[in-house]
Amino acid sequence: MSPLPPNMLGMSNAVESPIAIDVRNLTKVYRVFQKREGLWASMTSLFRREYKTVTAVGGVSFTIRQGEMVAFLGPNGAGKTTTLKLLSGLIYPTSGEATALGYTPWNRELPYRRRFSLVMGQKNQLWWDLPAQESFRLHQAIYRIEADAFQRRLDELTDLLEVRKLVGQPVRELSLGERMRMELIAALLHSPDLLLLDEPTIGLDVVSQRKVQEFLKHYQRERQITVLLTSHYMKDVEALCDRAIIINQGLIRHDGPLETIVDQFSHHKVIELQFAGELPTSAELEHFGTVFDIKSPRLKLRVPRAEIPQTLSTLLSRYEIEDVSVQDRPLEEVIAEVFQQDSNVSR
Ligand SMILES: Nc1ncnc2c1ncn2[C@@H]1O[C@H](COP(=O)(O)OP(=O)(O)OP(=O)(O)O)[C@@H](O)[C@H]1O
Ligand SMILES: [Mg+2]
Repeated sequence: MSPLPPNMLGMSNAVESPIAIDVRNLTKVYRVFQKREGLWASMTSLFRREYKTVTAVGGVSFTIRQGEMVAFLGPNGAGKTTTLKLLSGLIYPTSGEATALGYTPWNRELPYRRRFSLVMGQKNQLWWDLPAQESFRLHQAIYRIEADAFQRRLDELTDLLEVRKLVGQPVRELSLGERMRMELIAALLHSPDLLLLDEPTIGLDVVSQRKVQEFLKHYQRERQITVLLTSHYMKDVEALCDRAIIINQGLIRHDGPLETIVDQFSHHKVIELQFAGELPTSAELEHFGTVFDIKSPRLKLRVPRAEIPQTLSTLLSRYEIEDVSVQDRPLEEVIAEVFQQDSNVSR
């Protein structure tokens, strides 16, 4: 399966801008201690440790231009966070090269540190017991942000994210959505040119998710910063990115305009049904679409988007249905389909 070449169509305004990130054959292999089962095995492993290697990133190459907002997608364990950690200089690569804003990230030079930010939705970077404003002041000192600029940016960011009244409250008392917005403020106080976002909306409710999306969109448009974003939510990606890089098992499988993926994404939807009585037979339902995930009295039907209204009305008139919902197909599923297509192309 060979990766498709980047398709830069539809990104003409980005084509001329300078390169922000250039990654060449980047590889990260972890050596992981293998603990074998059983007492004897445990004893011998005290003397003779056995390791296996895990290739988290297996030689990836891509280029991102200044001002682009790119989605970095892939299933669990694909190598997304590892790539972002490499680009942040948190870890060293096993081999390969990368430059971000002209710097080699793992050299950890101060000028680079002052020009990028990494936000990890799964990790809390603020002091838990202190109000967010104390953490912000710490950032001001670390990044040597001049007092006027600091206050101006803080005012702007707290207004945009609607958390001005909460900056004096201990972080542990904030909701997840409020905390995430504080994390974004901390990350942006020094006005970075490059923003690496690792699942910034994970676990957030729909309203908070949308707020974060709107903020990021607005902020990126105003400043034309470069953003690389990982997310498992198609809504984030659709709202924010024109281009998607898809990685799986440490290898890049697809790099191109988001429409290619969104087209597939929007082709089908999933109807989830809860029947009041006994489930109809699968054969009966196959008529309407592909039946899957049967957990009586619930099941799911994959149906072409255009047929949704007709299918729903027939189902509701023919069966006794207690609950019904129409959902987008999970992003993972669509990505898997893209892989399948890529492998067909390269065969
Ligand atoms: N410190 C580590 N030591 C050993 N293996 C690791 C380490 N960090 C990551 N890995 C492994 O490398 C692979 C890639 O992990 P990574 O965190 O980059 O995936 P991901 O794409 O971010 O996945 P997710 O969507 O679940 O966050 C996984 O198989 C993971 O178990
Ligand atoms: Mg991750």
